[in-house]
Amino acid sequence: MPVESAFRPDLFARQRVLVTGGSSGIGLAIAQAFLAHGAEVHVLGRDAGRLAVAQQALGGAAIPHAADVRDGARIGAVALDLESRGGVDVLVNAAAGNFPAPFSAMSENAWRSVVDIALNGTANVCRSVGGRMKGGSVLNLVAGYAWTGAPGVSHSGAAKAGVLNLTRSLAVEWAPRVRVNAVSPGPIDGTEGMKRLADDLGLRGAVERSVPLRRLGRADEVAQACLFLASSSASYVTGACLVVDGGQDARGPFGELLMGL
Ligand code: COA
Repeated sequence: MPVESAFRPDLFARQRVLVTGGSSGIGLAIAQAFLAHGAEVHVLGRDAGRLAVAQQALGGAAIPHAADVRDGARIGAVALDLESRGGVDVLVNAAAGNFPAPFSAMSENAWRSVVDIALNGTANVCRSVGGRMKGGSVLNLVAGYAWTGAPGVSHSGAAKAGVLNLTRSLAVEWAPRVRVNAVSPGPIDGTEGMKRLADDLGLRGAVERSVPLRRLGRADEVAQACLFLASSSASYVTGACLVVDGGQDARGPFGELLMGL
């Protein structure tokens, strides 16, 4: 059941929002949430077919842009299009790609594919779209393994660590024009990654036990955090990372050993 929003339905009226990776998963939920709160929402994804499906899920209300975040020239063209419509108020970088593999099994191209989407793709969109923003805020989606380590998904971990650091750099370089923050989702039900882990590998129960709130999160719970950070209620928040993970990151190394938590 979707979380009840604490925000006004017109909170983002007359605001233009771009969500990269908005065709599915958390990005789609974020697009949905901004639409439900009055924004003009643009969704960017590399697969036109998946964008069309997302467009249906969004009731035809979002404006699709078929583009790969790795293609700097194409992203530049999308940025110009958005500027001609009046510019972007909120940019959400949710595009990512990932697959589990040990580092030693990753080819050079495998490593580059994931880092190119998450880190270089985010930089491309920040450069073209964020660089033209006259106010508002940028939100970058990261993951808790950006500051721990990411065995099994080291390419994604390195990329997300880079995105987190870029978030902080831009928060300072772009202040006071634009606020730049990160959102770090924990295990979110229904996402590609969680389908593999919870369903394909049968680890749903184990993942739930690893979360102090004892359940997987929902994509709309991450979207609500994005609404807060993009809203005027977060007007003094920049360079921050809001962790939306049911407490998973707070467990630290000894909770389970000493207290069975
Ligand atoms: N194990 C090892 N290598 C893998 C792999 C796996 N499970 N999956 C892909 N690769 C390698 C490919 O073999 C290729 O390397 P090679 O050219 O040396 O053989 C390289 O990664 C690129 O794969 P390709 O499918 O051509 O790249 P792409 O740009 O089309 O796809 C990915 C991007 C790799 C991120 C792909 O996993 C993807 O499209 N994922 C989309 C869905 C997704 O990631 N969702 C989760 C979001 S967090």
